[in-house]
Amino acid sequence: MQKLLIKNIRTLAQVRENAPEMIAGKAMNELPCIHNAWLAIEDGIIVDFGTMVDWPGITDWSNLEVIDANEGTVFPTWCDSHTHLVYAGSREGEFVDRIHGLSYEEIALRGGGILNSAIKLRAASEDELFEQAANRLDEVISLGTGAIEIKSGYGLDLESELKMLRVIRRLRERGPIEVKATFLGAHAIPEEFKNKKDDYLNFLIGELMPAIEKEKLADYCDIFCERNYFTEEDSIKLLEAAKKHGMIPKVHANQLSNSGGVQAGIKTGAISVDHLEYLGEEEIALLKNSKTMPTILPGAQFFLGLPAPPARKMIDAGLPIAVASDYNPGSCPSGNMNQMISIACINYKMSPEEAINAATINAAYAMGLSNSHGSITIGKKANLIITKPIPSIAFLPYSFGSNLIEQIIINGKKIN
Ligand code: NIG
Ligand code: FE
Repeated sequence: MQKLLIKNIRTLAQVRENAPEMIAGKAMNELPCIHNAWLAIEDGIIVDFGTMVDWPGITDWSNLEVIDANEGTVFPTWCDSHTHLVYAGSREGEFVDRIHGLSYEEIALRGGGILNSAIKLRAASEDELFEQAANRLDEVISLGTGAIEIKSGYGLDLESELKMLRVIRRLRERGPIEVKATFLGAHAIPEEFKNKKDDYLNFLIGELMPAIEKEKLADYCDIFCERNYFTEEDSIKLLEAAKKHGMIPKVHANQLSNSGGVQAGIKTGAISVDHLEYLGEEEIALLKNSKTMPTILPGAQFFLGLPAPPARKMIDAGLPIAVASDYNPGSCPSGNMNQMISIACINYKMSPEEAINAATINAAYAMGLSNSHGSITIGKKANLIITKPIPSIAFLPYSFGSNLIEQIIINGKKIN
């Protein structure tokens, strides 16, 4: 048995004896902590914790490793429930075009954007894609991400979508963190299907979904519900079909307009609806009566200069919120969840406690990992961030741009 004991933890954060599935409304502002704490791990699982005044009476020191946190704070690792981390190359040319005044939508309408990445992805081999993605994954793990969802959606044909999903499967098998896979064939309409959207949807449903189900390549199915892409009706049609092939719905909703994406997500029982820059009263009311996690993606909103999602209004209305990165080459070339938490606090006026709940328990819910991730709870995975000594929880989002991480632990093992 592998045993690990962490001592001298200044603050053990997000400690939940019975972790709730999700945290909504006012409760989001509470982050339960134990000060001056220790934490015990066996075979990668959290087995006990307490305060240093009640140091555990250890009788058997064999195989026991002790880590001194040296007054650092310990958080559960971040859960990143929305990424497009498998992609080929980069798109800094479009970044410069936007600096000179073009919008994200204008660039896409000229054949840039997602279709630009599709050309690069189709030309890349599975091994090349795997290597690039594994490097990105290692970087975000070192920044505190301890579970991640990754989407397809730059292949847009049978072979290339399957290639992406197989890369995601290889990343899961490689580890060390949990990886969930999402089929996002409906990310854009590829050149071959220009002006033939219905044919493309029928192709995704009739040909890709059975192939994905056969190899068990995806947990979720997502769609970009947006003007010039897919409508609410398209989304419902695709997601209902996906359910029959064993995939749970998710939606890219209300990023550039009030697109009906939230309605489509709720009607199909989506586990999350993501982006939400254009969210009205009607959508907030619909979300209130659902099990769908409203997920905001601060990096993409910041990087594209979009209006802020109405996070305060949502929380004040009693909704939960999850925060994820949207790591992708077009709208957010960063998967740094610490930055996402900072932006949520700075630009949306979420409190540090709200943002941390959003990036842990609520994001775990949005990727079906409530039982194993998102909090310091006995029986959950020992996926931990040990920080340098910090004076308070708020110091983390306050120090935007600094890396305060001293040590990452995944499944009870130190990551270098
Ligand atoms: O979530 N909005 C749609 N999809 C991605 C961006 C994709 C891209 O530009 O490559 C997003 O922001
Ligand atoms: Fe996205």
